[in-house]
Amino acid sequence: VNLASVETPAAVVDLSLVGANISRVVDYCRSHGIGWRPHVKTHKNRRLAQMQLDAGAIGLTVATPHEARVMSAVTDDLLLAYPPVGRVKIRRLMDLPEQVRLSVALDSVAVLEPLAKAAQQAGKTVGVLVELDVGAKRVGVSSAAEAIGIARLAAELEGVEYRGIAFYPGHIRSPQTEQGPALAQLSQVLADYLGSLGEADLEPRVVSGGSTPTLFRSHELPQLTEIRPGTCIFYDRDIAGMGVTTWNDLAYTVLATVVSVAVPGRAAIDAGSKALSKEAFRSSGDGYGVLLEHPEVVVASLSEEHGVLDITNTTWRPKVGERVRVVPNHVCVSVNLQDRLLVEEEGRLEAWAIDGRGRGLAPTSPVGV
Ligand SMILES: Cc1ncc(COP(=O)(O)O)c(C=O)c1O
Repeated sequence: VNLASVETPAAVVDLSLVGANISRVVDYCRSHGIGWRPHVKTHKNRRLAQMQLDAGAIGLTVATPHEARVMSAVTDDLLLAYPPVGRVKIRRLMDLPEQVRLSVALDSVAVLEPLAKAAQQAGKTVGVLVELDVGAKRVGVSSAAEAIGIARLAAELEGVEYRGIAFYPGHIRSPQTEQGPALAQLSQVLADYLGSLGEADLEPRVVSGGSTPTLFRSHELPQLTEIRPGTCIFYDRDIAGMGVTTWNDLAYTVLATVVSVAVPGRAAIDAGSKALSKEAFRSSGDGYGVLLEHPEVVVASLSEEHGVLDITNTTWRPKVGERVRVVPNHVCVSVNLQDRLLVEEEGRLEAWAIDGRGRGLAPTSPVGV
């Protein structure tokens, strides 16, 4: 089997680039004494997670109970970086294999109390990281008093154990070289939280943060014990636009076929929003992706099954039937749209399941797992 014979659109992963990308993160983390707990939401695949663990990741980060179950086959150390709300989600966490050491990032008593109760009834101890909002304005408490309140309750309740704090610096998306002031400010915010928690006798053992945009400047937050970047296994147009990586490291592309060149200045491919996603480009520029081999060619617009390339700024003259590789703006969302990953290594091609995709629910049962 080779790429010329597969039906498009198809998600293609270059495994040797994946290996190099993983090594780069592990080497960086080792040289700065930081743990890497990759977020698996990017790939949702057990074998890629296993590669990250074999290289030195300290455990994995997940967003859903299904990702937790899938990844419990490859690690005993999981962080759910998402507040589990509702009985079904909590039950699924309690059903994880006995040996799994689970931590949960949360920001309210409303999440903490039912989790503690369920864990106590199940005879388990779940770790708690108090989630802080340090600027992303998504989840997380925004004062030391709130953080202390939740941490203290977590330390007191049966079924849970206070382990530390977590935050996601999703507001820092500027080019890597321009992140200094935002990181310095964040470091001060963290120092203030740590000071207050220390005075309350609630010093965190774990300080979990990190993102791919800030990955290689994580050492500027000396408080961190672990980081959770996930996109760094593949990278994408957004991250390359921030200067975090080079074009040569992009390990994931959507293979597509040119289906029409009838409209002057345009070429249509068979990868639309159902393969690339309609995530906006957040660095400078527009469109929904670019061609790997012709980075001057932007996917200017998308319908569900059509991607429309702007070919006014290139000498490349596409022909119907020609194949192209598209670098999506945001790789994690594109992966989630695929049936499988076509993994290429030294000329060999294998199909790998996107195991953690979806909720893992039985299609014929309204609530059943
Ligand atoms: C809670 C949390 N941690 C870590 C990450 C990983 O960040 P990145 O996508 O920058 O690799 C994300 C990304 O959305 C996240 O939501």
